[in-house]
Amino acid sequence: FFKQASGTDLKGKKVLVTAGPTQEALDPVRFIGNHSSGKMGYALAKECLRRGAAVVLVLGPAPAVLQQDLSGITLVNVVSAEEMYQACMDHFPSADIALMAAAVADYRPATVSDTKIKKQDSDLALTLVKTRDILASLGAVKTGNQVLLGFALETNNEEVHALEKLHKKNADYIVLNSLNDGAAFGADTNKITIYSKTGEKTSFTSKSKTAVAQDIIDTIVKTGITTT
Ligand code: CTP
Ligand code: CA
Repeated sequence: FFKQASGTDLKGKKVLVTAGPTQEALDPVRFIGNHSSGKMGYALAKECLRRGAAVVLVLGPAPAVLQQDLSGITLVNVVSAEEMYQACMDHFPSADIALMAAAVADYRPATVSDTKIKKQDSDLALTLVKTRDILASLGAVKTGNQVLLGFALETNNEEVHALEKLHKKNADYIVLNSLNDGAAFGADTNKITIYSKTGEKTSFTSKSKTAVAQDIIDTIVKTGITTT
């Protein structure tokens, strides 16, 4: 399957990458979001392009710098988790590999006000409802010749939680980012451990997100996911 020389070993493959945060609107001027920089997903998209793949990058509202240097990549800009879900469901059936690096909001406001929410004398409580889990949704429809990779950001019981996500979401790989190891939102470096559904565990030293992206793709290629 992936047996060509590195540099073109993804030629003929389509890769779907998600990156960045999502924003969940409260009203026309406010949202709930997170600090994801989108850099890890951006590095993955660029690495897959470099290795010859056709790349679709589904990008949440990330800093403008990440919108640059994307020539050759099909960019799909989305805002909310629901939009990201729809874009992924559109592109996943034709993808060989999906790399879910986005920091998708787990909850969104139950209602979105058409007009700006006015300040009251009283405090304000928000009701939040769960968003759809995109990785798990792709895991549920995945065929045997598709490779699905997710990330896990953990602060405690990292391995247990990462393995739980691997199995629960029917992914082939989970990349663990430990916040305890100096990985941080916005950082240019990352320290990861990759867990595969076949039981392998590979730990890497802290390195640039570009180098981390290479390690991730190398691992997928090396551990020989089959097309049967
Ligand atoms: N993910 C997703 N859709 C969501 C939430 C998460 O596709 N609605 C994906 C992320 O892109 C990532 C993986 O699931 O690849 C794990 O995300 P993470 O936030 O670590 O895990 P959760 O399952 O959301 O659990 P928790 O936040 O409680 O740790
Ligand atoms: Ca989450």
